[in-house]
Amino acid sequence: MEVIYSNLAMKQWVNERDCGVVGFVPTMGALHKGHLSLVEQANKQCDIVVVSIFVNPTQFNNTIDLKKYPTKIDEDLELLRKSNVNMVFAPDSIEEVYANEKPVIFEFESINNVMEGKFRNGHFEGVGRVVKLLLELIEPNFAFFGEKDFQQLLIIKKMVDQFEIETNIIGCETVREADGLAMSSRNLLLDLDERKKANQIYKALKHCRESFNINNMDSLEKKCFDLLKEFSDPEYFEIRKSKDLSKKGGIQDEWRAFVASKVGSVRLIDNIALN
Ligand code: PAJ
Repeated sequence: MEVIYSNLAMKQWVNERDCGVVGFVPTMGALHKGHLSLVEQANKQCDIVVVSIFVNPTQFNNTIDLKKYPTKIDEDLELLRKSNVNMVFAPDSIEEVYANEKPVIFEFESINNVMEGKFRNGHFEGVGRVVKLLLELIEPNFAFFGEKDFQQLLIIKKMVDQFEIETNIIGCETVREADGLAMSSRNLLLDLDERKKANQIYKALKHCRESFNINNMDSLEKKCFDLLKEFSDPEYFEIRKSKDLSKKGGIQDEWRAFVASKVGSVRLIDNIALN
């Protein structure tokens, strides 16, 4: 497994690489089984697998959150080596990633105005910027993203369409701990007591799935929000259409429930398909 730290070296590798289908998994490191499931999927579908590790400052709207973000590059590289990854791109500075960026205006439309877009100002612009640069640099045939960040997955699909980037975006299922908590690098920041509480987020989502019908959405959102309040500090609990995150539709549409809640000081997000 090769590890590259500079843009220039990455470009060189792209120009010299052998033919074959290239799969790409962008990450911010502190890797867990959720990330590794994307790598596994990439290995199944592709000949060459590239993973990036870069804690992208432009997508953090809160400097404390950025400072606290866990990093463990040596362990990450060891995990990726064992997972048959061919290449890791781990840029060692912000300049390395953003030096040649041309300003763009993203057309995320309505997808950017709700939930994470509403509560984390500028977050998706930051995600769009870094993923656009990475896709343009690495030129993969496929890129793999988790449904854990379902709104992000839709944002990336929109961005790729807008800029006619020739990478197929593949969504992969959320990997969970035994008690249902969605795996996340941020789980490392939970203390023992918070960790015990955090699995109730999934319980609220499951309650929503069991009780969901097309006529009870408003009351069910409120009920689940109140369930979250019993152990955490919720920002939103919303039922929206999987396709475009709108709230208008019928039983023929696919629906999802989305949640963001703070357990202690750790902000966790999750979502579940309802039908
Ligand atoms: P990060 O949070 O490190 O996640 C990297 C990828 O792993 C994302 O596609 C995310 O959805 C996926 N992932 C995280 N937890 C998962 C889980 N439990 N099951 C399945 N997939 C999971 O998302 C980002 O980084 C950044 O925004 C990034 C796209 C790298 C841009 O900076």
